[in-house]
Amino acid sequence: MKAPAIHSRQGFSYLAQRKKPVSSSVLHCDQVPLTRVAERFGTPLYVYCASTIRARVQDFEQAFRGVRHTLCYSVKANSNLGILRLLKRTGCGFDVVSGGEFERVLRVSPSAAKKTVYSGVGKTSREIEQALQTGVLLFNVESESELHRLAACAARVNKTAPLALRVNPDVPAETHPYIATGLHQHKFGVPIVEATRLYGDASRNKQLRIAGVSVHIGSQITEVQPFAEAMQRVAELVRKLRTQGHAIRYVDAGGGLGIDYEQGSASNFGVCARNYAHAVLPPLRDLDLHLLLEPGRSIVGPAGVLITKVLYRKRNNGKKFLIVDAAMNDLLRPSLYGAYHRIAAVCGNGRNTEQVDVVGPVCESGDFFARDRELPRVEEGELLAIMDVGAYGMVLASNYNSRPRAAEVLIDGKSMRVIRRRETVADLLRAES
Ligand code: LLP
Repeated sequence: MKAPAIHSRQGFSYLAQRKKPVSSSVLHCDQVPLTRVAERFGTPLYVYCASTIRARVQDFEQAFRGVRHTLCYSVKANSNLGILRLLKRTGCGFDVVSGGEFERVLRVSPSAAKKTVYSGVGKTSREIEQALQTGVLLFNVESESELHRLAACAARVNKTAPLALRVNPDVPAETHPYIATGLHQHKFGVPIVEATRLYGDASRNKQLRIAGVSVHIGSQITEVQPFAEAMQRVAELVRKLRTQGHAIRYVDAGGGLGIDYEQGSASNFGVCARNYAHAVLPPLRDLDLHLLLEPGRSIVGPAGVLITKVLYRKRNNGKKFLIVDAAMNDLLRPSLYGAYHRIAAVCGNGRNTEQVDVVGPVCESGDFFARDRELPRVEEGELLAIMDVGAYGMVLASNYNSRPRAAEVLIDGKSMRVIRRRETVADLLRAES
């Protein structure tokens, strides 16, 4: 992997040890060596960088400063309360897709509900009613049936439901097929051509209050053109709806902005956020809207690493394996999507390299983090850092093979704090009889 910058004091970077050569530098998170964190809290361990998260929110804010907007951080990317609390302090609202995520937001701050959008293709009546009782900024409604359900729930709890229809703009976006959502064959949203009829239905129901239009075309999208195309279609729809008398105040542009898993995108996010804004904003100009954004990955992805220890070196017919103490149950993305994550040796930048597979202890051949990867040679007992796992890392973790889930630590400058303790086998057994 391309070595992270040396001597930067924010984010993940190799810093030289005092009075030692550069070759003995250690990967740090801000000013804390990852060796120290691993020693203290054990491995496998998720480590997050608060300053990176704050900087990325700032970059978004800067890029969109010319328009009324709210960043509704997408909780699904990383739902740890410590991360949500940090984001709340930066002024973010939230995007949730389940009663569980909503509960997390309320736990962080009951007042955050009014900056929370409720998305998801399968909301239950119970989830809807809870959100109506508490009050949310917007329900992103994904089907005609859900529109009727929302009205019925609102009647039952005697509230009016603010809503946006999530429209499917039929825009193709280059990404993994599992996470593309903006085409008609996907389960998400309502076809944009049916939207006007459904807004008409909604406007005739006094339990419903039309407030916006929402769209989300997929995740890990690294070209901005699809966002621009989706926004053009949304803008056309907003104009049409307004001529029909609907009060469209919000456009929710969804999330989806990708990160650079190959090179690392830690230092230049300001430019990415600006390019993204230049795609999203022009079609909406003159519409006098309040823009909602639902970024997840682009805010927390590069802010997390998974530290893991090499348990064994192994050779099978000339092929080399590093068997590490993290597994697919800790980080599923490589197994599930064939996703690429850079892997760095925590100690010593610039050693000799070798070609290896990095695999976990789970009993599946799909349990791998890298295949035929050129990596610095590391010995048994040494540490590796799997990069860019702040989003869709821990949230996708499971207890497969009865493996307790890893601990999570948040680093801020010189301080480190456990934001989720390591699970124990007793935790796993507790819910079973
Ligand atoms: N809004 C909606 C309606 C979404 O469905 C998603 C992600 C987001 C916002 C946040 O998207 P982001 O900015 O993070 O791209 N597990 C997959 C990603 C699944 C994304 C699902 N929806 C992965 O590991 O790549």
